[in-house]
Amino acid sequence: MTLESTETGRATLADLFTPVDLGALRVPNRFAMAPMTREFSPEGTVTDEVISYYARRAAAGVGLLITEGVYVSEDSGPSIRVPRLFGEPQLEAWKRLVEAVHAEGGLIAPQLWHLGAERGDHPQYNSDLPTLSPSGLSSSGKTRGRAATIAELERIRDDFARAAAAAKAAGFDAVELHGAHGYLLDQFLWEGTNRREDSYGGSLEARTRFPAEVAAAVRAAVGPEMPVIFRFSQWKSGDYTARIAKTPAELELLLGALAEAGVSVFHASTRRHWEPAFPEAEGPEAQLGLAGWAKKVTGLPSIAVGSVGLNQAFQVAFQEGGRAETAGLEPLLDQFARGEFDLMAVGRVLLSDPAWVAKVRDGRFGEIRSFHAEDRETLS
Ligand SMILES: Cc1cc2nc3c(=O)[nH]c(=O)nc-3n(C[C@H](O)[C@H](O)[C@H](O)COP(=O)(O)O)c2cc1C
Repeated sequence: MTLESTETGRATLADLFTPVDLGALRVPNRFAMAPMTREFSPEGTVTDEVISYYARRAAAGVGLLITEGVYVSEDSGPSIRVPRLFGEPQLEAWKRLVEAVHAEGGLIAPQLWHLGAERGDHPQYNSDLPTLSPSGLSSSGKTRGRAATIAELERIRDDFARAAAAAKAAGFDAVELHGAHGYLLDQFLWEGTNRREDSYGGSLEARTRFPAEVAAAVRAAVGPEMPVIFRFSQWKSGDYTARIAKTPAELELLLGALAEAGVSVFHASTRRHWEPAFPEAEGPEAQLGLAGWAKKVTGLPSIAVGSVGLNQAFQVAFQEGGRAETAGLEPLLDQFARGEFDLMAVGRVLLSDPAWVAKVRDGRFGEIRSFHAEDRETLS
């Protein structure tokens, strides 16, 4: 399917259950599980409960599972309950998790995560280590920690690479770099959080340099075959109006540099997948979502995300009593017919209903459990 096929109209659900190749990796259908932080892993080690949580979703037909954000280093983030991709017990537990997912016929990628300034000033995990970021600024404009030195950046880059190599050794099928939502890699990309005056700050090219160096190190660590996914977003957790690319040309420059460094799939994180990324563009491009633009400017496969099957964007997940009701899949089918994405990631619907993909596949729409914010408290 190409971006030009606009007049073919709507795709069918069956079209979403066709395989797609991410380089050498064949994904059996078009649904991915979006990365969702759960904090059910004491001392950073996934438990049997966490293993079953992912395996259940693999068994129910999710094509590619992307794990919750996973720490790559001792100073990645504040929580002792976020899983880590380093340390012997942690890596042993990941191996069991990957085996369990594979046994159910699933594929899985860990999301490699460093929070940068969002780690905060009072981390529970390794409180004695400094909080490092491009300029010591969070996405809401607060001062947090301090700017990393060049030597510290090299160390963090190597931590990403080591975590990626550990993921490969544990049997994972792909890796995803968390370059979205105002965390470390995105703090470099966005001018609001990157005020550096060295070669890592200033122009968009310079701001892309560190994320590209991380991508290159990760590519070198996993070899040429394994998909390296880069998740990016315009919005930041501290500013939903932020933009890292103000024009398609800027997006091309940014993603092009990452692709050259070794990224092979782009995961465009939006809150509503059907929203146009550059509505001011001329002609049919005006309706393209961010994943559609990523595919167009790089020629690489893309993953879209944002409110699939739900009538409320993801922030309801963090509101007491938050609810999102089931909504139709028409926007998804229209966008797929236009060839805008290869995979669609789904978050909250899979958090509340592990069998969502199987129910959609079998047309059992009436059996779908809609999203309840309190479902975050358990690993159903
Ligand atoms: C509880 C929760 C935790 C999340 N954690 C992460 C995360 O660790 N990494 C990430 O990139 N996005 C995270 N997200 C964002 C989701 O991956 C997804 O982009 C968002 O929920 C929109 O998709 P949805 O509308 O299908 O839920 C999280 C979302 C929720 C609801």
